[in-house]
Amino acid sequence: MASLKVGILISGRGSNMRALIEACAAADFPAEVVLVISNRADAAGLALAEAAGVPSRVIDHRDYDDRESFDTAMTEALREAGAGLVCLAGFMRLLSGEFCQHWRDRLINIHPSLLPAFKGLHVQERMLEAGVRIGGCTVHFIRPEMDTGPIIVQAAVPLAADDTADSLAARILEQEHRIYPLALRLIAEGRVRIVGERVLIDGLALPAERLLNPPPV
Ligand code: GRF
Repeated sequence: MASLKVGILISGRGSNMRALIEACAAADFPAEVVLVISNRADAAGLALAEAAGVPSRVIDHRDYDDRESFDTAMTEALREAGAGLVCLAGFMRLLSGEFCQHWRDRLINIHPSLLPAFKGLHVQERMLEAGVRIGGCTVHFIRPEMDTGPIIVQAAVPLAADDTADSLAARILEQEHRIYPLALRLIAEGRVRIVGERVLIDGLALPAERLLNPPPV
């Protein structure tokens, strides 16, 4: 099977980008990262991409008059690199409707909650305030409205009584690094279909585990 060419958009740390790059480095992985774009020159992820030998570019949104022209510049760079799928990994800009339409069903994101709960920012603080006992993370196709779109993979993460936003974020992040490469593999293998606004994945069994928090006594 031909390898799916992937572009990754980042704004910062880039740990999910690194998880994707590392997964793609395995000989039998059906995707390859052809370009990393950051909208910030100071994003730490740029050095990680360089260290991994992945081409990267800074496209600074402040150099463009409006969102549409910034997004067009990204689309051009992604096209030049031959990207067939775009992964957002901590990319902190809203995308234009035009960009979402151009890349529709070829544009995915990772979010640190079990969507559709806790869209937006400061997710971990809000989960702690709400007192939920199970949080998690989601990889989903992108639609123009923020943090919406067909869900591909989710992981559940239990909250602890003494969690802080940071400790919870760290535990969720570990699972993000597992589910993002998993979602990418499933897409690259051609097993993911969008039917209506739901994702169907060919050849998958229901996982055996059930997560209870607190555990049964
Ligand atoms: C992650 O928590 C991701 O879910 C959210 O932004 C954060 C990015 O972290 N969209 P990193 O840059 O991938 O380390």
